[in-house]
Amino acid sequence: MLSFHWKKGDKKVMEWDQLRFVRELTIAIRTKNFDPREFIRKGDSYLFNFAEKNTSGLDEGRRNFLKAMVIGVGVATVAGIVPGLRVLVPPNVSAVSAFPKSLLVDSSGNPIKASSLPVNSPIITIYYYPLSGEPNFLLNLGDSSGKPVSVPSYTVTVPQTGDKYTWPGGVGPNKSIVSYSAICQHLGCKPPFIHFYPPKYVTPSQINAPEPDTLTAQAIANAKAANAPTIIHCDCHGSTYDPYHGAQPLTGPTQRPLPTTILEWDSSTDYLYALGSLGVGIYPEGANGVPSKDPTVDLSSSFGSSVGDKTEVSDSENPFSS
Ligand code: FES
Repeated sequence: MLSFHWKKGDKKVMEWDQLRFVRELTIAIRTKNFDPREFIRKGDSYLFNFAEKNTSGLDEGRRNFLKAMVIGVGVATVAGIVPGLRVLVPPNVSAVSAFPKSLLVDSSGNPIKASSLPVNSPIITIYYYPLSGEPNFLLNLGDSSGKPVSVPSYTVTVPQTGDKYTWPGGVGPNKSIVSYSAICQHLGCKPPFIHFYPPKYVTPSQINAPEPDTLTAQAIANAKAANAPTIIHCDCHGSTYDPYHGAQPLTGPTQRPLPTTILEWDSSTDYLYALGSLGVGIYPEGANGVPSKDPTVDLSSSFGSSVGDKTEVSDSENPFSS
């Protein structure tokens, strides 16, 4: 029987039918509307149903193989067959085997109501997820008149590799609430050095604004070309991200979008939950601040412990001087 080895001399890891099945599944994931958000929410049951419907079938052998793959090597590895996309599962953290579903609460422990989030607020609003040392932006996006704007799904391109992935768009009563990692993907600056610029600050007058709120003419031009009335800008070296389009970079030096933190909105309670992350699994934890390419190395316990089933949303200062 034919078998497949990762490299010469390795222990046999796959039979031929299993390899063919993995190929089939990989192609189906690329071409048949595999929904990463559902995968994170439902885990292997979603993957099993998807495989049942979109491959030549799951007999008992394939079912056991898929189960062993999910249990044995982890959800992150299964998700790794989606091109350009990683589902970041924090490894090496004893309390966390997958992302927690985490309710967003205020400092008194009361759930945050989605409809109460101010639109286009310049105040840096963050929460930590999935680990206690990982800040995320919570943004309610609007137009230049301050009205919430429904933000549709978007295909994000990773400039570094050309890979693409599907960003799910906004949630909440107006589909205008989005969330991203607040760790700059250039060299890892965090708030307040990276922050959100509402429309009134994405104008040529910002070119001459005092540090740290200066924007370049290029950033403003690229935001305009991308039809992005607001931006996230990192003061450290000038990387600019488009919050309307999956935090796709508008200007470098970053070569990667900000990872998305997936939110769920419960329309019956108006509560928000963090469910997981999408994006390229690269964090600035490599040698000398140079990002490595392995999320299992970069997402380590140096980011803290799991936030568990609740995480507090906190406001910090308005970074703009005027
Ligand atoms: S760390 Fe953000 S631009 Fe360099």
